[in-house]
Amino acid sequence: MYKLSACCSMACGISLHPKMVLASLRIRKQGNGHRTNVPRNVNLEKLQNNYLFPEISKREVQHMDKYPNAKVISLGIGDTTEPIPEKISLSMANYARALSTADGYRGYGAEQGNQALRKAIAETFYKDVVIKDTEVFVSDGSQCDISRLQLLLGSKVTIAVQDPSFPAYIDSSVIIGQAGDFQDKTGKYQNIEYMPCGPQNNFFPDLATTPRTDIIFFCSPNNPTGHAATRKQLQQLVEFARDNGSIIIFDSAYAAYITDDSPKSIFEIPGAKEVAIEISSFSKFAGFTGVRLGWTVVPEELLFSSGFPVINDFNRIVCTCFNGASNIAQAGGLACLSSEGFQAIRSVIDYYKENANILVDTFASLGLNVYGGVNAPYVWVHFPGSKSWSVFSEILEKTHIITVPGSGFGPGGAEYIRISAFGQRDRIIEASWRLEKLFSKEKTLFNSVWNIE
Ligand SMILES: Cc1ncc(COP(=O)(O)O)c(C=O)c1O
Repeated sequence: MYKLSACCSMACGISLHPKMVLASLRIRKQGNGHRTNVPRNVNLEKLQNNYLFPEISKREVQHMDKYPNAKVISLGIGDTTEPIPEKISLSMANYARALSTADGYRGYGAEQGNQALRKAIAETFYKDVVIKDTEVFVSDGSQCDISRLQLLLGSKVTIAVQDPSFPAYIDSSVIIGQAGDFQDKTGKYQNIEYMPCGPQNNFFPDLATTPRTDIIFFCSPNNPTGHAATRKQLQQLVEFARDNGSIIIFDSAYAAYITDDSPKSIFEIPGAKEVAIEISSFSKFAGFTGVRLGWTVVPEELLFSSGFPVINDFNRIVCTCFNGASNIAQAGGLACLSSEGFQAIRSVIDYYKENANILVDTFASLGLNVYGGVNAPYVWVHFPGSKSWSVFSEILEKTHIITVPGSGFGPGGAEYIRISAFGQRDRIIEASWRLEKLFSKEKTLFNSVWNIE
């Protein structure tokens, strides 16, 4: 039997050709050769075989083998496609060049990040809510900080996640030992609280029926649904956490895509500093998916039940398990937050948002229920009564477009697919045209068509 082992870093962005990705995934036979006496980590044994995004890459490769001349359009894995504005790339190039000079050479930086960048992050994103630069920890991306936070929390805490949600919350929880076994019947791990978030509840959990957990992972704008929680919803969430003595881990990786008055940070909600940590990223904000830069805010007011400040332990984790983000990437981050850099980034974000608009219009004009795309670069489309892997396969087979099956984000995504708006405009237009052609042709049929598995 062959097993596909994949690493979590594939989750968020693959700029490599899928064949290269697959090559790096190392498919191995379960060994007949020399064995060590080291048992496999039981938590890793619990993980479901294939991490979602490498599985999609595998399907893409198989499809390209089957149709070598097809012009495949990838709107699957949410990787950015547009060039980084020159002002920003030049700042990194200049920093890198200076490393070859006696004056410009730098070695290790502060584990928590460059002081100027921490200050710029605090002032750019948290000016009105007064976050101190010392509460900002610069990272090599928010996915890495999700795992560092799990290390901070340990195996004994209980967690809740939105259903559907970004897979790294659950997988890191399983790896650290917080979860029980996976239940095939429900598609859920034991000991993890899945909070349904769909159109039936305006993509916000029914907190009156949600059991208490120590930790609540909450992503807004949400990947995959694209829903940005309203101020009222976040007030309810903070109140719920305060009442229950829980900690919210708020993922604002897509906050830059918010255009309405939804909060861009959990710290806009009064009382949040005593119950929340925020993780965020330059990946989708500035096209840094490959450069790698993010940050985490841990307010001084956040305390464990013993009264010990969470920030002190997080600092310890960062110093022990991380040695600071690349100083070249941090130079780029600083350039992103200059007024010229920020303006240039905004126009790239606007470009992706226009792509999202085109995709939303396409699906809406076909009479499908489509969500997201307004405050996020993801479009979430409902195919009632269908299985998302069937819809994925059907779209791939008939249009050569890669999407993501919603079930990869949890049982709540079973009837949905996610389409990414990261892409070059001509491809987005071409994809819309192909989808229109497929769906208008099969409109009357699609209930029966999508149900075949
Ligand atoms: C919700 C969410 N959080 C975190 C990440 C990881 O981002 P980073 O590239 O900063 O590790 C992603 C990547 O797609 C994401 O969608």
